[in-house]
Amino acid sequence: MAHPTQLEPSRRNVAAPPAAASYQSGFGNQFQSEAVPGALPVGRNSPQRGPLGLYAEQISGTAFTAPRHENRRTWTYRIWPSVVHRPYRRIDNGKLRTGPFNETEATPSQLRWSPFPIPQEPTDFIDGIITIGGSGSAADQSGMAVHVYAANASMAERFFYNADGEMLIVPQQGRVRFVTELGVLDADNGEIAVIPRGLRFRVELPDGPSRGYICENYGQAFRLPELGPLGANGLANPRDFQAPVAAYEDRQEPCTIVAKFQGNLWAAESPHSPLCVVAWHGNFVPYKYDLSRFMVIGTISFDHPDPSIFTVLTAPSDISGTANVDFVIFPPRWLVGEDTFRPPWYHRNVMCEFMGLLKGVYDAKAEGFLPGGASLHNCMSAHGPDAETFARASAAELKPQKLDNTMAFMFESRFAMRLTRYAMESSELQHDYFEGWQGLKRYFPEKQRQ
Ligand SMILES: [Fe+2]
Repeated sequence: MAHPTQLEPSRRNVAAPPAAASYQSGFGNQFQSEAVPGALPVGRNSPQRGPLGLYAEQISGTAFTAPRHENRRTWTYRIWPSVVHRPYRRIDNGKLRTGPFNETEATPSQLRWSPFPIPQEPTDFIDGIITIGGSGSAADQSGMAVHVYAANASMAERFFYNADGEMLIVPQQGRVRFVTELGVLDADNGEIAVIPRGLRFRVELPDGPSRGYICENYGQAFRLPELGPLGANGLANPRDFQAPVAAYEDRQEPCTIVAKFQGNLWAAESPHSPLCVVAWHGNFVPYKYDLSRFMVIGTISFDHPDPSIFTVLTAPSDISGTANVDFVIFPPRWLVGEDTFRPPWYHRNVMCEFMGLLKGVYDAKAEGFLPGGASLHNCMSAHGPDAETFARASAAELKPQKLDNTMAFMFESRFAMRLTRYAMESSELQHDYFEGWQGLKRYFPEKQRQ
């Protein structure tokens, strides 16, 4: 059981004290936690009168009838049921967009963006979300959206939930604290957080401004990839995923619940904080993961395995082995391949590859791909090392080499991405990205020409 925890109510733009959050370990476990002893009923979910006068409320993340290994639901025991609020009204979507994406035509050109700026005016996590593009449709529960966020203010009296998809958040700069219905997750740089569809939460920025990336997955929830011949261990190990312990706000003062629903933002007034869950049990939970715990596998002879070997989490589609979206990382690792071109090879891929860089340098690019920036290589668009990288790597001495102080990632989807108008017209778009490949030399001898 968790230690008793009652959250300190935050004041406007004032972050909660940076006390270390507590966690429960494991991926997809049946967790249980109570912030007050006796708040969690034993042996049943919905007693006639809830323990300590709490209301019981189930949050279903899958259909009731989903197979047992897919089924995700959590029972909460709360001061107020979630239904106590005024009707929702539409509010401005800001720079947030949702599939189907139709603002621009999909382009086969390779695209890259410089780091997105952090705003000067007060901007919280919701207002700081800028959609780059995506695929599919929230209504069809297929496809995904890619956003960046750049924020400098904590959410105080407003809360958020996303009915359109789960959100995988990758902070690149500045720690992020997710204060959720089920407890607190602190995501530092080098960690990710996943917030399930529909879960209410508030975002605090304990260290000031924060910037990062968001994969909004409209489809089936992320899960760990199969390991096949790798065996029972390796890649992201289940025990390293961390879910929160119960922590609640007993805060009876007006607040706003912002909902993302079918592509639009809505707001409703509530007389109390929605984070009033004193105890809970279940497997539909937010979680975080420290990317440095990823056990990296690569060649110890020659050639690279396909980059699927770097998959942290995968969200399946209805085609076997073909992800709605994969979350893939390129962490620090040794390169030891003999007679092997060591950077990523030249490549065309039916899958769509959106990349971001958290720190350091990505080994396929000499310059231009910067932490906080992004690139997109759409379905079947050619990509690979730039001319400078090819020249260096094809002549390099092949001694063991440590790629250190680096972390890139990829959101890889079976669906081609369409971009928002903002992404295409943004001043961060590098119109000279293609130039990096134009200097590639011909090495095949001229005399071979017929
Ligand atoms: Fe690729």
